[in-house]
Amino acid sequence: MASPAASGMWSSIPVTPRLFGKPSLPGATLASERTGRQAPADNMQPAQIPGMTQPTYALVTGASRGLGKVFAEALAARKRNVVLVARSKDKLEVLATELRTSQGILAESLEFDLASPMAGQRVAQQLSDRKLRINLLVNNAGFGARGRFWEFSLERQLEMMRLNNEAIVELTFHLLPPMIEHRQGSIINVSSAAGFQPIPYGSLYAATKSFVTSFSLGLEQELRPYGVTVVTVCPGRIRPESQTEGTRNVKRGLLDIYQSPEDVVRETLRALDGGGGLVVPGFVNKCCVFAQRLIPRRIVPKLVAKMSRP
Ligand SMILES: NC(=O)c1ccc[n+]([C@@H]2O[C@H](COP(=O)([O-])OP(=O)(O)OC[C@H]3O[C@@H](n4cnc5c(N)ncnc54)[C@H](OP(=O)(O)O)[C@@H]3O)[C@@H](O)[C@H]2O)c1
Repeated sequence: MASPAASGMWSSIPVTPRLFGKPSLPGATLASERTGRQAPADNMQPAQIPGMTQPTYALVTGASRGLGKVFAEALAARKRNVVLVARSKDKLEVLATELRTSQGILAESLEFDLASPMAGQRVAQQLSDRKLRINLLVNNAGFGARGRFWEFSLERQLEMMRLNNEAIVELTFHLLPPMIEHRQGSIINVSSAAGFQPIPYGSLYAATKSFVTSFSLGLEQELRPYGVTVVTVCPGRIRPESQTEGTRNVKRGLLDIYQSPEDVVRETLRALDGGGGLVVPGFVNKCCVFAQRLIPRRIVPKLVAKMSRP
């Protein structure tokens, strides 16, 4: 497939931070200073950049439950300060308090509807107002709808496009400049195995995830020379929280189609430590993605339609 020629867009991305770089947060201390513990010696950026007095944060969207919550917990366990974003204020605050107490990090919550107009820009502005400097962006919030395209409300489907795509583009655009300027930062984009092929009866969701995967893999190469790492993670089915509770230690067969969110996060962070790239977590998912590449492209949607017809 021909890759798009480089456009003149890059020159329009400011290298000087527009929303950050204000004076450092008075009295702010590194989590490791308070706890006496050091950040792990991995490729993850520490909670504070050497020579800078302002603490840095990992921002996780959709952190109130599911995969986003597990990302927040895993990052906090690595002594990363976190900003948790979602609509459920209470859940975010409970989690932030828990992470502050258990991990000795800085944890902030930001109640926000990321499907609302100009969400990314407004989140960036709030971060700037609160002097929260982000050097790891986890674009996780998203949802899918299954059924016949014309039977869903258009409003709900446009909301899905705004959350799954627009919010990611906007947040990335607004949070990248300081990462580029400091030649340090990371982005994790949560896509889906659904993005590798058309999925009849989930057509729009698959298309939104196809967008995320393509955008993210392209961006990874654009950002490589600037020291910014991008991970694109494409999970298959993740075990729902209701099933996860109390079943974490149950041994499952090799061909279990569900993965635990913990496994997905572990594989993703390993890729981040290794310098980024595409992650298809789990053996079964890797096999499925590989196998469908061997089938003619026009046949794949017909096969998927048979499996996913409501
Ligand atoms: N579950 C799977 O099997 C699976 C498989 C492949 C990929 N994925 C992808 O993984 C990501 C996480 O999925 P999940 O299963 O963990 O989802 P989930 O359990 O439904 O959680 C979604 C998170 O996104 C937040 N959210 C939803 N709408 C929002 C909005 N308008 N503004 C701000 N936050 C919003 C939710 O919090 P609030 O409701 O509090 O806002 C929640 O924290 C998604 O991008 C999904 O597409 C999931």
